[in-house]
Amino acid sequence: MTYQTIIEPFRIHSVEPIPMTTIAERQHAIREAHYNLFQLPARHVMIDLLTDSGTGAMSRDQWAAIQHGDESYAGSPSWEIFETAIRDLFSFRHIIPTHQGRAAERILFSVLGGPGKVVPANTHFDTTRANVEYTGAEAVDLLCPEGLDPQLEAPFKGNIDLNALHQLLQKRSQDVPAVILTITNNSGGGQPVSMENIRATSNLCHSYGVPLYLDSCRFAENAWFIHLREPGYATKSVVDIVREMYSYADGMTMSAKKDPMANIGGWLATNDEALAERARTMLILTEGFPTYGGLAGRDLEAIAQGLHEAVSHDYLHYRISSTAYLGDALDEMGFPVVRPSGGHAIYLDARRLLPQIPALEYPGQALAIALYELGGVRGCEIGTVMFGRAPDGSEHPSSLELVRLAIPRRTYTQSHIDYVIEVCAEVLSVAERLVGYRITKEPASLRHFTAQFERIDHN
Ligand code: F0G
Repeated sequence: MTYQTIIEPFRIHSVEPIPMTTIAERQHAIREAHYNLFQLPARHVMIDLLTDSGTGAMSRDQWAAIQHGDESYAGSPSWEIFETAIRDLFSFRHIIPTHQGRAAERILFSVLGGPGKVVPANTHFDTTRANVEYTGAEAVDLLCPEGLDPQLEAPFKGNIDLNALHQLLQKRSQDVPAVILTITNNSGGGQPVSMENIRATSNLCHSYGVPLYLDSCRFAENAWFIHLREPGYATKSVVDIVREMYSYADGMTMSAKKDPMANIGGWLATNDEALAERARTMLILTEGFPTYGGLAGRDLEAIAQGLHEAVSHDYLHYRISSTAYLGDALDEMGFPVVRPSGGHAIYLDARRLLPQIPALEYPGQALAIALYELGGVRGCEIGTVMFGRAPDGSEHPSSLELVRLAIPRRTYTQSHIDYVIEVCAEVLSVAERLVGYRITKEPASLRHFTAQFERIDHN
């Protein structure tokens, strides 16, 4: 007998209160925040789906590991525990701890980047792109065609377009210091990359002498999708799948704030001795000594324990099916969402929901604000607000207008998600009455974090 209810594979050990607010209170709070959800104090949010990064609940054993942490400056036993846990899954020769993912990216690209270089990826996450571009190099996204169609049901919409990559390498392999696969593909809907695609990308890269790095934040979710969807992997354990995935790579960057279930942390790992040496020099300048990087000993141990838990089949079954539970419920009620459901988030399609709002009046922002006002649910616009302003100052509609509902790990229960579904149903019922916004103030770059908005009153 297989029961349908997804039970959380944990009991609750410590609780945090959720502030219960009214619509009137939320309308006031969001107006005070100039209609920018990043500017909203979290105490006004009921269900916070802004990000799955650093927002997960640590386990009893992770809190115990924190108590066990050793703060020796050099060669702490916590460092050995951290290194052993990483090496068990990802067998790279050099492991360089950082305070979070983008610090690993900054160190990697400060060594590999520079003017005239080009770094292809399935899709660069924003911080990766920014770190590549900051060095003067070019970041290029080569997502497979299926990944560009939000409604298409396909198993591995995070794959890189191998033909496009081949063409680029034929022309410019000398300028390519590395190829990046982001697993899962966050900016492309949390969609996984297949083992076949990782293997083929690796073969192609290596035939040109170019290394392959995996941006690995959601490696365990990606491995679970391979286990579920890719022929030949149903009987393999996630640990074996992860080891195979990384056997094709030359290195990785990691944010331990995602699948490793810590609140902070990250690392860079590589097999390249010369790169590791330069990276460690950068690390000492900007993060810390190589046996703790940007972290405390206790964080190193929490991450090590989190890594053991992240590859548990019971956990991953719960994680991926509970995300799909939200995505399927929205799909069934006719709420436009990116299909199939991603691993860590559901992406709402604001362009299809709100066709009356022009792109330059920010339908994604309008949807995110409606979810907050009507239900206290905080999501994140991924559309024209985030991507619309070009470096030359011009403004263009983003290719997709999405709102991401990211699910923190082990933090909310099914009843919280049922509540989110109800709030979305309410938003759907009033969708045609929603209006757009205009920006009244914005900074020169990364405007989505601090821009101020006002509602456009058509009367
Ligand atoms: N790569 C990917 C694919 C990410 O999703 C993130 C962070 C990073 C790198 C950077 O890691 O935050 O530890 O510096 N993503 C968060 C998010 C911020 O909300 O998706 P970090």
